[in-house]
Amino acid sequence: MQVFRTISGLRDNLSTHRIRGQSIGFVPTMGNLHDGHLALIKQAKETNDIVVCSIFVNALQFGLNEDWDKYPRTYDSDCAKLDQSDCDYLFFPDDGEMYPNGLDTQSRVICPTMTDVLCGASRPGHFEGVTTVVSKLFNIVQPDEAIFGIKDYQQLAVIKRMSQDLCLPVKIVAAPIHREADGLAMSSRNSYIKKEERPKVKVLKEVLELIAQQIKAGNMDFIKLELEAKKRIQFEGFRADYVTISHSKTLQPAAIDDRQITVLGAMYTESARLIDNISICLD
Ligand code: PAJ
Repeated sequence: MQVFRTISGLRDNLSTHRIRGQSIGFVPTMGNLHDGHLALIKQAKETNDIVVCSIFVNALQFGLNEDWDKYPRTYDSDCAKLDQSDCDYLFFPDDGEMYPNGLDTQSRVICPTMTDVLCGASRPGHFEGVTTVVSKLFNIVQPDEAIFGIKDYQQLAVIKRMSQDLCLPVKIVAAPIHREADGLAMSSRNSYIKKEERPKVKVLKEVLELIAQQIKAGNMDFIKLELEAKKRIQFEGFRADYVTISHSKTLQPAAIDDRQITVLGAMYTESARLIDNISICLD
């Protein structure tokens, strides 16, 4: 695997593949790679000749009181993992390469409505940072396909919408959620979970699954289902940010006659914020 730290270096190299008619798959990440990330790379290689991964801890998508400073930066072990994977090129820019004019005056990409709800409601500005950096990365790599994890369901939906709205010539591909043995969705932020909390955090997945079962069985009292789930999260000692039954595409609260439903949840442990989701089709 070859590593590029500059946009021009990566572009020059990728152009030789494009001239040969080779397709390019792209997996953007913030590093601290786990098996979920590596599965995205494997999936990218299945449908593309060349796979590019990026590692960039994007300050623009972190709020002032969030974890940008302490976000795990594990370049050496990430590289070792990527060397063993199907990744052909790693793009590893620094802040100056991505934001040469600084953050404050950076032009931004805004995807309204969908970003005001769920994680967007408790992390103002977060999705603006994501859509801005992802569109920059798309312009740098110019991939045929970009792979995103369903684990970050709202992010995936927002990026699909942004790509459609802005006519970006890239196919957005969804990849399934990779989980630990007890069902906890893998995440770089799982390292923040305290040892004593770890056996109990699976409650998030459990309450979402319970809601999905209930809906499939015909229980459409969404407000009550959401409330009960939040109570159970609280009972385990965590603070529920939201548990919401949403329309899978628009992410607005689901109506009782919606057929494509996604149940999304976020909760705070003492030092981590965890998210998860489950989708159901009622047809
Ligand atoms: P990061 O959290 O590193 O995630 C990179 C990609 O890996 C995202 O598409 C995410 O959904 C996917 N992913 C993470 N955990 C996963 C899991 N357990 N199973 C499957 N896929 C998983 O998401 C970001 O970085 C950033 O917001 C980014 C898109 C790179 C923009 O900065």
